[in-house]
Amino acid sequence: MTSTTGTPAASAAVSARGLVKRYKDVTALDGVDLTVPTGSVLGLLGPNGAGKTTIVRILTTLLRPDEGSAEVAGVDVLKRPRDVRRRIGLSGQYAAVDEYLTGFENLDMIGRLYHLGAKRSRERARELLASFRLEDAADRPSKTYSGGMRRRLDLAGALVADPPVIFLDEPTTGLDPRGRADMWEVIQNLVAGGTTLLLTTQYLEEADLLADEIVVIDHGRIIAQGTSDQLKSQVGGERLELTVQDADRLDEAARLLEPLGVSPAVLDASRRGLLMPVTGGAQVLTEALRRLDEVELRLDDVGLRRPTLDDVFLSLTGRLAEDEAQAETTKAGA
Ligand SMILES: Nc1ncnc2c1ncn2[C@@H]1O[C@H](COP(=O)(O)OP(=O)(O)OP(=O)(O)O)[C@@H](O)[C@H]1O
Ligand SMILES: [Mg+2]
Repeated sequence: MTSTTGTPAASAAVSARGLVKRYKDVTALDGVDLTVPTGSVLGLLGPNGAGKTTIVRILTTLLRPDEGSAEVAGVDVLKRPRDVRRRIGLSGQYAAVDEYLTGFENLDMIGRLYHLGAKRSRERARELLASFRLEDAADRPSKTYSGGMRRRLDLAGALVADPPVIFLDEPTTGLDPRGRADMWEVIQNLVAGGTTLLLTTQYLEEADLLADEIVVIDHGRIIAQGTSDQLKSQVGGERLELTVQDADRLDEAARLLEPLGVSPAVLDASRRGLLMPVTGGAQVLTEALRRLDEVELRLDDVGLRRPTLDDVFLSLTGRLAEDEAQAETTKAGA
């Protein structure tokens, strides 16, 4: 099998072919091929249960696939797991820090485990605490840290030995906007230094900001792949979203606006809502309002927003990511 990008294995920091993983009646991975060129950032984007953690666990030697093969930093994951472990850093979906140790002690301990020596371990811990904005909290037990601080400390721990390839599994899930923004800054500084990074996320915005290339995964299969611009143009620019005052006029609104969309509008009659992919930004919004105003079609709400992961899913699979049991054109709950 050839790699998806045709990049020779030698210049790829991570390459995987035909990964399959089954749990009884669940197929967690159903033939995944991946390539991460050295020095680049791959964003693995997918909803709950898509198979993201399973991929990360296989590539970091924590789990054996039923089929397929992979190399990380040029080393075969299945044949030489110990050598792979020496070349990678992993920050898992849930921060794995020792709560009773301080931030400094956590990092210092990892340095010693990696045989950096006492002096170098202390230096490295201080360096990382500074670059992860944990200096002020360095000497208190990490159980007093916020969720965002714990995630940053966990990531710092993955970097102690300066590995060439880093894996981050959902680094910002569960963080508040401030914690998320701090984490993004830290990751951007990290990749500016040329580290190869594979990161998983449920947020298109996050993949957009951090990744050179995005792979969208669903039910253990890759359903789309490309740069963020390529994916966005595939799902069609922004979303025009509106709520009509009078539910009886929703179809009429759709007819009037459909010529402005890049694909058909999705209607939600129970919520008097219309959602339609558009390109052209504010001008499209102005034109839409003009058309509705002409026939005195009143709105309760209207707005333009950037595509979300739900939109990518809706566009790629015809269903919403959050709940596939839902009818295709109806949003869950009110
Ligand atoms: N140990 C296990 N036993 C049984 N099923 C499992 C096991 N681990 C994962 N699965 C199943 O495999 C599928 C993929 O899970 P995985 O954890 O890789 O998804 P994910 O994309 O990381 O999701 P999340 O965003 O919720 O972390 C899911 O259907 C999950 O329920
Ligand atoms: Mg996961």
